[in-house]
Amino acid sequence: MKVLVTGGTGYIGSHACVELLNAGYDVIIVDNLINSKKDVVGKIEKITGKKVKFYENDVCDKEALKKIFKENKIEAVLHFAGLKAVGESVREPIRYYENNLISTLSLLEVMKEFNCKKIVFSSSATVYGDPIKLPITEEDKVGGTTNPYGTTKYFIERILQDVSISDPDFSVVLLRYFNPIGAHESGLIGENPNGIPNNLMPYIIKVATGELPILSVFGSDYDTLDGTGVRDYIHVVDLAKGHIKALEKANVSKGVNIYNLGTGHGYSVLDLVNTFERVNNIKVNYKIVERRPGDIASCYADSSKAYKELNWKAEKGIEDMCRDSYNYAVKNK
Ligand code: NAD
Ligand code: UFG
Repeated sequence: MKVLVTGGTGYIGSHACVELLNAGYDVIIVDNLINSKKDVVGKIEKITGKKVKFYENDVCDKEALKKIFKENKIEAVLHFAGLKAVGESVREPIRYYENNLISTLSLLEVMKEFNCKKIVFSSSATVYGDPIKLPITEEDKVGGTTNPYGTTKYFIERILQDVSISDPDFSVVLLRYFNPIGAHESGLIGENPNGIPNNLMPYIIKVATGELPILSVFGSDYDTLDGTGVRDYIHVVDLAKGHIKALEKANVSKGVNIYNLGTGHGYSVLDLVNTFERVNNIKVNYKIVERRPGDIASCYADSSKAYKELNWKAEKGIEDMCRDSYNYAVKNK
């Protein structure tokens, strides 16, 4: 079965390509390389020993998509392509709405033209906004998004739900990721953000490798065990495996299915820093500073629905995530 992976050279998409190939799917990637590099294709092939077809195109470009669908009998799409930096989305909302929404609409139009009716979409726990209770279940209220990036995820979920209503043969799986970190154990693929990172793990790594002097811990007065923010960190390989299960679901079930992909465990900023130091035997200097505007105290998933319906659960722990993230960083410095 041929699967189109939009954003397949990116952080999560590349790991999903590895799992797809390992599971016997044929993989076609489309990515405009706005936030990734072409050499990832060769690395995916090296890990799996299998070939990948790569198209360097913008998913907003309908004509390019038509060519891809014409040249390949695509039966399903994993849709990762999108811009994802929260702060940047506040500064450049039009660019975010344009890129994330137009790419999805173009993709859906071309899928319709070529009678391709299965899509798995990369959504985010951000659609829950500030959660009213923990752990968060899929039935909890969505829509209280606090930045344009999050709102694109919320809008795209709605668009996909409407498409499914208009065509009962359509299969949509919305995967709401919690906080993906870690890297493939080979150290060949992982996360490599440009410039100064916004997210915690990439920042910890830059401090550990000496590229940045000190980590700022945003707030120590939250209502959490140690006062620092709590998140549900999930290993990117576990997350990638969830996409195979989601695809299997889309193959047998029509309509919209929604799943949280997290571990169900919350770890604080200091938990992550301390574990990183211990498993990698390296010091991470940090200082406590003011809270970051817009941050919430705690966020973690109830992922039991994914276990019940997809037979998926996260296997890797916080130690694996810290070890594999650092291994990738050291090998790709
Ligand atoms: P990433 O930036 O590493 O990967 C996204 C890929 O999409 C990149 O390779 C980029 O070049 C490509 N891309 C962007 N716009 C494109 C376009 N118009 N046409 C073609 N390619 C385009 O990000 P990631 O962390 O791998 O995230 C993948 C998806 O998961 C994104 O949709 C993101 O919003 C979502 N997500 C990520 C996180 C996270 O913390 N990493 C959390 C929740 C959801
Ligand atoms: N943090 C620091 N210092 C830093 C960076 C982060 O203390 O330099 C703290 C934050 O305050 C928060 C925790 O580390 O308590 C995690 O922060 P991240 O920026 O790594 O992750 P967020 O939970 O804020 O956001 C992430 C993604 C969003 C996504 C959201 C929900 O970046 O895209 O998870 O899934 F929407």
